[in-house]
Amino acid sequence: MTDIKKTLITSALPYINGIKHLGNLAGSLLPADIHARYRRQTGDDVLFICATDEHGTPAELASAEAGLPIAVYCAQQHGIQADIYRRLGISFDHFGRSSSPQNQALTQHFFKSLDDRGFIEERTLNQVYSLDDRRFLPDRYIVGTCPHCRFDRARGDQCENCSRLLEPTDLIRPRSAVSGGTNLEVRPTKHLFLRQQALVGALETWLASRKGWPHLVTSIARKWLDEGIQDRCITRDLAWGVPVPKEGFEGKVFYVWFDAPIEYIAATQEWADADPDNRDWKKWWWQADDVEYLQFLGKDNVPFHTVSFPCTLLGSGEPWKTVDVIKGVSWLTYEGQKFSTSQHRGVFLDQALDLLPADYWRWWLAANAPEGSDAAFSFERFAAGVNNDLADTFGNLVNRVLKFVIAKYDGVVPAAGKTGELEHSLAAELTQHLANLKSHQEERSLRKAADEVRAIWSVANAYLVSGAPWSHVIKEPDHAAVVVRTSVNLVALAATVAWPFIPTTAERVLEALGSNSEPSWPSSAAEALALIEGGRRIDVPPILFEKLSAEWVETNRAKFAGVDRH
Ligand code: MF3
Ligand code: ZN
Repeated sequence: MTDIKKTLITSALPYINGIKHLGNLAGSLLPADIHARYRRQTGDDVLFICATDEHGTPAELASAEAGLPIAVYCAQQHGIQADIYRRLGISFDHFGRSSSPQNQALTQHFFKSLDDRGFIEERTLNQVYSLDDRRFLPDRYIVGTCPHCRFDRARGDQCENCSRLLEPTDLIRPRSAVSGGTNLEVRPTKHLFLRQQALVGALETWLASRKGWPHLVTSIARKWLDEGIQDRCITRDLAWGVPVPKEGFEGKVFYVWFDAPIEYIAATQEWADADPDNRDWKKWWWQADDVEYLQFLGKDNVPFHTVSFPCTLLGSGEPWKTVDVIKGVSWLTYEGQKFSTSQHRGVFLDQALDLLPADYWRWWLAANAPEGSDAAFSFERFAAGVNNDLADTFGNLVNRVLKFVIAKYDGVVPAAGKTGELEHSLAAELTQHLANLKSHQEERSLRKAADEVRAIWSVANAYLVSGAPWSHVIKEPDHAAVVVRTSVNLVALAATVAWPFIPTTAERVLEALGSNSEPSWPSSAAEALALIEGGRRIDVPPILFEKLSAEWVETNRAKFAGVDRH
């Protein structure tokens, strides 16, 4: 019998069309990774799944801009993104692709189940067709002059200048955003709708059975339901995507938001197919009542995960695992504005890694996570946080302790002396902090968890100062030895609790101490303080964090101020 908890974690699938920015990292990938690492620390059987979201018009346009066949473009960009996430320490068990054969088969399977059960309906729509591009154009890929403000690059869904909502037919001198062609006409075209209105009852029952969702998530889901859920068009007139397996729909594909969430499951199949003897995707997704499933996503993605995707799963009538807990995150703003992929505003993840190692970014983005409300990134705030927390608090602790052991004890942890009052009250204080940290981690409160990690680092520094081994090492060597030995253990504990946040650094510190570099959650403070015994040889401390100067801040603020990336 085993009571190891199975925990399935997914992060929203990043779009394939280019390298993501710090806001995307803060919004789902990093919170998911920190939680996955924490759960592994506590001994859960964790499966952490993500993938690139490869279909839809943005992918088509980006590949055209890059001058590459779309399949080649996607393969290339998948590799680039996978490498960046690896360098950021995102510990996916599998990072798949929504264009995989597994996802194609599974998406078609869901469609057929929904169709068999009467939840699919055919409708004819009138849409703009571009004769020059020989394709239908989505509203936003038709541009023209705004009838209200005369802005000459208004989009068919909205004018970016005066913000008014538009229909493509409102535009003066409409043209294709793809080719610039002006030979446009309105043509009828057949599409398939998922009858979500017929699923409202099932959806309400399901939602009522979900417990403990954050307010942000529940309120967005409620708003959608209360405004009345619409049937959803799940097909598109595009060449790139999952083909629609139905007569009369040749040449059409599924809407990207239909197949993308299905890739959570298909990516798990990809993972299992890579090692079929040892991996079973079904135990995570099919009649998987013993699995706890957590989704991490930005708030704009909430409706798709609380309404659309559940409609797909519930409507199939099959025993698929549905999400237990959703962690929705707000926006990170960049120097007072929105991060924007299309306008290249903000710091992109390749640029971030060129500037500094992953842990600097991971720490600051978690400690300032946009939870509940938006959070503001600026180079100044970033540098202040990094300098205080990482350099002065954690880095300083590690350096002082390890250097002292090297200088005064030849690099061997001293064995003499017995613990006393100081160590008892230290253990009591840490017990409280560890309990707080555990509960914040369990609630996925990133900021509060980071605050608690920082508090543990501070407690460790304070203990070292009050124990003051440097003033006792000659006259009271036993006392000094106890303080030093306890401090070495404090360094290990400080790295252990920080591991989900700053894994690379934590591992280097633990390696220098000769400890397990994938540390499990401490069973108690007292035990954690006695783990490393006298006699252990330790290594010279690595340089952990550089302080970021005012000049560094200025240079980068100026460098990233421009809208143009190239
Ligand atoms: N690519 C989408 C975005 O970045 C997220 C897709 S999440 C999934 O907003 F559910 F579709 F997988
Ligand atoms: Zn306008």
